Amino acid sequence: MLTRRRFVQSILAFAILPKQLLQAKGFLSPNAFQVPPLELGRRSGKDVYFDLDIQSGVSQILPNVSTKTWGINQPFLGVTLRANKGDSIHVNVTNNLHKTTTLHWHGIKLPAKADGGPHQPIKPAQKWLSEFDIIQPAASLWYHSHQMHKTGEQVYQGLAGMFIIDDDISKNLSLPSDYGVDDFPVIIQDKNFNKDGSFEYLADVRDKLMGQKGETILVNGIISPVMKATKSLIRLRLLNGSNARIFHLNFDDKRMFHIIASDGGLLENPVMAHSITLAPAERAEILVDVSDGKMPILRHKMHMQKSANRMSGMMMMESMQGKKQEFDIFQIDASRATPSHHKVPSSLTIHAPLPVKSVSNQRRFKLQMQMGPQLMLGAMMGSQDLLKINGQSMDINRIDEVVKAGSVELWEIENTSMMPHPFHIHNVQFKIVTRQGEIKGHELGFKDVVLVRPHEIVQVIMKFPEFSDAKTPYMYHCHILEHEDRGMMGQFVVV
Ligand code: C2O
Ligand code: CU
Ligand code: CU
Repeated sequence: MLTRRRFVQSILAFAILPKQLLQAKGFLSPNAFQVPPLELGRRSGKDVYFDLDIQSGVSQILPNVSTKTWGINQPFLGVTLRANKGDSIHVNVTNNLHKTTTLHWHGIKLPAKADGGPHQPIKPAQKWLSEFDIIQPAASLWYHSHQMHKTGEQVYQGLAGMFIIDDDISKNLSLPSDYGVDDFPVIIQDKNFNKDGSFEYLADVRDKLMGQKGETILVNGIISPVMKATKSLIRLRLLNGSNARIFHLNFDDKRMFHIIASDGGLLENPVMAHSITLAPAERAEILVDVSDGKMPILRHKMHMQKSANRMSGMMMMESMQGKKQEFDIFQIDASRATPSHHKVPSSLTIHAPLPVKSVSNQRRFKLQMQMGPQLMLGAMMGSQDLLKINGQSMDINRIDEVVKAGSVELWEIENTSMMPHPFHIHNVQFKIVTRQGEIKGHELGFKDVVLVRPHEIVQVIMKFPEFSDAKTPYMYHCHILEHEDRGMMGQFVVV
């Protein structure tokens, strides 16, 4: 199986991406960078109405063969939704697929009924109305399918898009914010293809355990594109939209950039960095100065010093399997960039201090993945309860935790396994209180996903919004979608 796939891939790679184009020098590829269409909705005062159509389509991703894809208001991936803090959102979703699906607003604080998780399925040809007020600050959020046991497959097919929130603070900072001109969504995904052009999903049984990883990188649905920058300072809203791959992003010329936002919005101050690690579902906004007119390539590459002590069991296994671990993501061609009238602000916003004194409850979540023969056997049989949190696999009829509306809680996430798990909590933005090692870069900001490394314990603190609903749960789960689909998920209600 593996041999055949590798063989097909090497032919594809050879046919489409001649080696000299893939190498760091010169142009990365002939593909132009594209941004998903911007959708501002129909506005009437503070009410904003979006009509979303979940559809299947055909996309030209590879040069000589087309790919069956899924998308929202377009054939592949979702349009970018953009609204303001304080708006009342009304999304009318129509499912035009032949499969049941959902649309979940990842990172948005909202009533459980509007969340779009496994409890709000939309059957084929049916509609779902999701309504919520935006009560949180400017941020780069996203939306994606959350269908029970099918999230991995459906997101892989293309059911994912960005949701951008603006507010007065973000608008007054004079940050680059001209969509598609100096402000870009960058949805990074890794895919495998079958010979007929269709996406190849879970062909390798190991991917059912470790998560689906692909060997072709797409940015906004395009293979390794080139962005022709017209401005000398550009804002990238990075989203790791892959099912399972953790990206270690940096530029080939080692240039520094400024991290200005995390999952939940602006950091207090920009942080200079030359690399950033994004696990599945994590976002970060960065400002890149390209006034030197060069052509830097954003790539996924582990740093030498880091790889020595941080290399996970998973990465070791991958390298033993001979799988590729370094990829070019996309290239910025700044040769025609004109001076930007924006500059990197010295400070961005102010966060309230951590409400450590008001913590009213503490919980512990153990992420469990027993290694060994049963695991492999279970994976082969397609078992959906291989992975556990606190000894239990996800059961849609069981409520695991009850949280008080408006309360502050401290959650400890303990990874008892050999591989890293990005842990996500619905309906909140938390802050990391302690973890192994320093908390820095985007991890200083508000988060809705945190990467918990093997045998690490991470503490996060959050205040739950006032919405309460004893009957409709929210989810917490590993955001490696194959882990979520195989049981590493639990449910909480807020009352
Ligand atoms: Cu990004 Cu529960 O989801
Ligand atoms: Cu979510
Ligand atoms: Cu996981």
